[in-house]
Amino acid sequence: MKIAVILGTRPEIIKMSPIIKELEGRQVDYFILHTGQHYSYNLDRVFFEQLKLPQAKYNLDASSDSHAKQTAKILIGVEKVLQEESPDIILVEGDTDSVLAGALAATKLHIEVGHVEAGLRSYDRQMPEEINRILTDHCSDYLFAPSEKTRKTLLSEGIPEGKIFVTGNTIVDAIYQNLEISKESGNSLTALGIKPKEYFLVTIHRQENADNRARFTSILDGLNTVATEFHLPVIYPIHPHSRKRMSEFNLKPRKVTLIEPVDFLSFLELESTARLILTDSGGVQEEACVLGVPCVTLRDNTERPETIEIGSNILAGTSPSRILECVQMMLSRQNTWVNPFGDGKAGERIVGIIMEGKHG
Ligand code: UD1
Ligand code: UDP
Repeated sequence: MKIAVILGTRPEIIKMSPIIKELEGRQVDYFILHTGQHYSYNLDRVFFEQLKLPQAKYNLDASSDSHAKQTAKILIGVEKVLQEESPDIILVEGDTDSVLAGALAATKLHIEVGHVEAGLRSYDRQMPEEINRILTDHCSDYLFAPSEKTRKTLLSEGIPEGKIFVTGNTIVDAIYQNLEISKESGNSLTALGIKPKEYFLVTIHRQENADNRARFTSILDGLNTVATEFHLPVIYPIHPHSRKRMSEFNLKPRKVTLIEPVDFLSFLELESTARLILTDSGGVQEEACVLGVPCVTLRDNTERPETIEIGSNILAGTSPSRILECVQMMLSRQNTWVNPFGDGKAGERIVGIIMEGKHG
């Protein structure tokens, strides 16, 4: 059995890390194919170094471009590698352009596809991620659903039951494997001059927010309001995508502390001791939930509805008054929810299922 792990962006590296560690531990014949969608050191290399992952055997250096060009470059590059290597199965994780291109290239070559984090839906087809995840699910042979809810979604779309496996989300594995190390080694709070529970943590990078001047402006106004109301720092490790747009739109958030994107251990440290997290990220909504930190999602929908149902998260959209109201509501809630994303053994389960080759 030969496995190709295809990845291309920050969240894919982090969420694939427990699977890669499991493949290493079992001495499976596998290789990593990096699409190069993310290439800046602090969105890419830093995670390989910190999580002690082996180097990718291939890097397609696809870098940034329009959706069509980026997807096409990856599609062509992946096809070439798969033809040379002839793996039995490829694994992709999540919903980026790298995921769709990897899955599509493999399925056309009749190579099996395993989709990690299958069955998520925002039901918003304006989002590139929604198109990517639907298409990837529908050409996959193994669908690793993080929860019972996502399994039901896949069944409702006609995916055969035998292809779906509820495994939990590998982000829980990644958190459990790294949280203690992050607490022991961390000095991010000292470096920023902030104290536990006395700051807000923010990330915004999704296309629907960062590329839309009105929405991005409104969110930043909301953050200024929150900072003023609570007299607390708002820390925003800013994704280069958002940095670029902020400069193009000439936006200057007055009360928000912008810092460069940080490594995973530092980000875990910042998340775990934040008073509250505001985000449009998928992975950050999950991490806040697992870490027991209240979350306000700066979007109109989420493909992680489990977090809303258990009360760890709330949808605020982008209006400043609604953002403030949601922060106040979340801070008045008890954070006694139980993590719905699994027990931290998703990576082990996923590799076990593939090695047994038991899909229907
Ligand atoms: C991509 C994913 C998004 C995911 C995010 C994770 C798609 C369609 N989007 O968004 O779902 O949440 O990754 O972080 O696949 N840039 C750099 N350095 C890099 C990478 C990007 O400076 O290493 C800048 C470039 O200006 C680039 C912009 O970010 O044009 C957007 O990059 P891209 O990979 O297209 O999308 P992301 O916003 O990173
Ligand atoms: N993350 C990080 N440093 C940062 C911001 C985020 O390591 O400065 C991690 C975070 O812990 C999570 C992942 O990046 O695991 C989420 O990725 P992102 O928000 O870029 O993408 P999404 O999950 O929205 O696809």
